Amino acid sequence: MCGIVGYVGPRPAQEVLVHGLRRLEYRGYDSAGLAVAHNGSVAISKAEGKLDRLLARLEEAPLPGRAGIGHTRWATHGAPSDRNAHPHSDNTGDFVVVHNGIVENFRALRSELEGAGVGFRSETDTEVLAHLLALEYEGDLKEAVRRAVRRASGAYALVAMTSREPGRIVAARMISPLVVGLGEGETFLASDMPAVLDYTREFLIIEDGEIAEVTRDGARIETLEGRPVERRSFTAEWDNESVQKAGFAHFMLKEIHEQPEVIARTLGGRIHGGKALADLSWAEGDPADVQKIWITACGTAYHAGLVGRTMFERLAAVPTEVAYAHELRYSNPLIGDRSLTLAVSQSGETADTLAAAKLARRRGSRLLALTNVVGSSLAREADEVLYTWAGPEISVASTKAYLAMLVGECLLALRLGRSRGVTGPDQERKLVEELHSLSDKAARVLADQDPFRLLAGELAGASSVYYIGRGLDYASAMEGALKLKEISYIHAEAMPAGELKHGTLALVDEGTPVVAVATQQNLYGKLLLSLQEVKARGAMVIAVAYEGDEEIDLVADRVLRVPRTADLLSPILAAVPLQLLAYHTARLLGRDIDQPRNLAKSVTVE
Ligand code: G6P
Repeated sequence: MCGIVGYVGPRPAQEVLVHGLRRLEYRGYDSAGLAVAHNGSVAISKAEGKLDRLLARLEEAPLPGRAGIGHTRWATHGAPSDRNAHPHSDNTGDFVVVHNGIVENFRALRSELEGAGVGFRSETDTEVLAHLLALEYEGDLKEAVRRAVRRASGAYALVAMTSREPGRIVAARMISPLVVGLGEGETFLASDMPAVLDYTREFLIIEDGEIAEVTRDGARIETLEGRPVERRSFTAEWDNESVQKAGFAHFMLKEIHEQPEVIARTLGGRIHGGKALADLSWAEGDPADVQKIWITACGTAYHAGLVGRTMFERLAAVPTEVAYAHELRYSNPLIGDRSLTLAVSQSGETADTLAAAKLARRRGSRLLALTNVVGSSLAREADEVLYTWAGPEISVASTKAYLAMLVGECLLALRLGRSRGVTGPDQERKLVEELHSLSDKAARVLADQDPFRLLAGELAGASSVYYIGRGLDYASAMEGALKLKEISYIHAEAMPAGELKHGTLALVDEGTPVVAVATQQNLYGKLLLSLQEVKARGAMVIAVAYEGDEEIDLVADRVLRVPRTADLLSPILAAVPLQLLAYHTARLLGRDIDQPRNLAKSVTVE
């Protein structure tokens, strides 16, 4: 996803901007560029591809100057190319912009501008903003930005400079995130804090519908209507140390290994006297009379929602529906005021999840956010927030955030079950004890990587891998399949085991890999039947099963063991071998594991 960095101060801007863009590489991008103000003009350098290509250009033709903006682009309008890379400028070259998100009415704006004789050099929606600025400019960049933003609808962040006002950067936030980093005699701007964490830890958040004027002396924030805003700065807890790989070959592997600690962190301080979330105070009291829970999310967070549904239904007896946010927002859902909506999102910035969450709220639902990022848009939108405390997740494929979401959901379900009188103290105490044991159990799965490396050799040549399970094991199968396809690019499909006979069995042939998750005891016998069916067609069966389960050896060619736990919690452990299987397969295939092709960490456009 696109990244923005800005700088005004005494240092050479090029250096700071390139460094910041490096820190944002993990978000995924396909081109990069800089604009730096110097001697009455603003010079631009940009290149398709990874940052090194831009650096090669900058080596030949450096950009001197002490104020500038930089961008990594993830293509939406127009293919990845030098031409479409940001920054974009107007026809005089005096106004330059970088932009995240989408200008929804850009086609109409573009034809209007073309009608007025403006020539376009790219296919991007961003370029209209540069031309609009030039047209609206009457001596004050901030006013021009204000007027341009009023005309451009959509969810985006815009950062602009002009050669006519060097030393000044103006940024507007229309949903897409932007922060200001404060230094001594220097000021930074970024779409994400890690971009500038090496320079400062003091931040101001720019909120939706606000404009910030950034100079080396700091930032002045006001609303789109021109009302000044007093914003207190805060100190970020994350430093760049914690976003380094810490000796692991990839961020993904590091994050997989952090999971035992993450489980403990998510639980940390949230259980008192055997009671989950006893300290959490809900703004309007416990939603004990809630009639329905809606869980909405995308990607891995959606899979966390599938597990959450069973937890809420079993522990709190509330009918629960899980919906992809991009479907929910357009489905005219029957969300009413006696409902609770749980929006689940690692980043808290996924555009669809935010939109679905807002819709639920408009319909009178209470909104609860389960997210990893403090101060994220979703967190600020919600009535209540439960943070997952998984720490920064850099790998595009989500791992530790997923486990933390499952733990968080279990805590919420226990709390709700208690207030509704559904889950008794004994049952709660047992589950809480079991939750506490999961850190050690997850660490046991991680202790020996050899089985995964060996199996990777068998999966790497496959063209399709099928993942099956029943009940909660089906949710685990979905997450396992997603991990494999995301990073290895091998086609992987998950289905409830009972569905095999209704179509997919036709594809199972000699040697077809079938990964089965076999932890749900009430459905175990049924799952074995499905395994016998695929086995009879020659499938190579890999099972994820509990330690001590001997029956599975009769049908599975390979077994990946997880320690026994309560069936309701087994997805927390089952995820770990599935992540490692995907990781080692992708590694054997030499894939770009942390930044898989075509994918982005945080999808802040629809
Ligand atoms: C992207 C990421 C996934 C993630 C999904 C939802 O597709 O690549 O890993 O699961 O977005 O992101 P969120 O931040 O809302 O959990």
